[in-house]
Amino acid sequence: MPASPDRIIATQPAAAGRNGETPLSAVDLFCGTGGLTHGLIKEGIRVNAGIDLDPSCRYPYEHNNRSRFIERDINLLSGEEILLYYPVGDIKLLVGCAPCQPFSTYTQGRDTRTDCKWGLLNSFSRLVDEVSPQIVSMENVPQLEKHDVYDLFVSRLKNLGYDVTSYRVYCPQYGIPQTRTRLVLFASIYGPINLISPTHSTNDFLTVRDAIYHLEPIAAGESSKHDPLHRASALSTLNLRRMRASRPGGTWRDWNKALVATCHKTTRGTTYPSVYGRMEWDKPAPTVTTQCHGFGNGRFGHPEQDRAISLREAALLQTFPEDYAFVEPDARVTFAQIGRLIGNAVPVQLAQTIARSILNHLERHDA
Ligand SMILES: C[S@@+](CC[C@H](N)C(=O)[O-])C[C@H]1O[C@@H](n2cnc3c(N)ncnc32)[C@H](O)[C@@H]1O
Repeated sequence: MPASPDRIIATQPAAAGRNGETPLSAVDLFCGTGGLTHGLIKEGIRVNAGIDLDPSCRYPYEHNNRSRFIERDINLLSGEEILLYYPVGDIKLLVGCAPCQPFSTYTQGRDTRTDCKWGLLNSFSRLVDEVSPQIVSMENVPQLEKHDVYDLFVSRLKNLGYDVTSYRVYCPQYGIPQTRTRLVLFASIYGPINLISPTHSTNDFLTVRDAIYHLEPIAAGESSKHDPLHRASALSTLNLRRMRASRPGGTWRDWNKALVATCHKTTRGTTYPSVYGRMEWDKPAPTVTTQCHGFGNGRFGHPEQDRAISLREAALLQTFPEDYAFVEPDARVTFAQIGRLIGNAVPVQLAQTIARSILNHLERHDA
């Protein structure tokens, strides 16, 4: 059921729009735990609603953002419903980060986990058509550009009269301590949107040390008494030995042969050194993924403590504020659920970069 307009939560301060005159407000599609929304709000853009079908996003989304969470399948949502969340007269900004979906869960006898399509992008462009926002922004993995669905998305927006620009953003250049590269697309009826200039260069990239050094030490399998999210996965005896044999920036190739996993002893396995590594204090972290809480899932070992990074450390590397709550107080902290929310998020600082680019554009174009 569509929500009635009088139930819209709008408790954030009003945001300035073009030349500071017309208010700008946003709706966030595929809002997840709210990384994108949080960054927009930090830059003064009001986000009236976030839409996602995962109920575990409701608490963090609403609690940290004072924005309304709508639990819906975006494929089944109409533009008319979304329009309820924009105050009349505001400049409408529609943002979103459509996930890559497994191609099919029904395919027999075939591993479909790496087989992706971005069909949800078609729902995104349908909603752009139905809502007619003045500005659109979409964030995704750069590989998306190779897929027909992306060309379709861009051509649909261009046919609707938008100027479309897109950028591959190397996150360290924008103050994110992580070597993530993301695709950021903008569309505007006022003209092309330029991404703001990088704020950091190689000599002042933020590092793992900048993000997590100050946190209290914990052991594998333990959590902090002060912050339940500062919790690290347990390690088996074998993995603890491997962890101890790992050096920052190294790989399992540094280990004694007895510690090397059987799959890495094969000719094919030796070509995959990017698992079981420790991060380096004075470099950005590798891309934080949904599996970043597991030492064997990537280079997710702590630089000096014998454990994988904690969920809080992952959230800090994704530039969430340290008090961002991912579950209700006293709720169970599960690595799979919270790791998914954190790893899937748009880094807050990247969202701020997107917001600043849009606000600059609105200031420049007196449309
Ligand atoms: C990459 S995450 C979004 C992250 C979010 N923008 C953030 O910054 O935290 C993609 C989200 O899309 C949601 N999702 C997937 N299919 C959906 C659908 N059909 N309708 C609504 N949400 C969907 C997932 O639950 C997931 O939270």
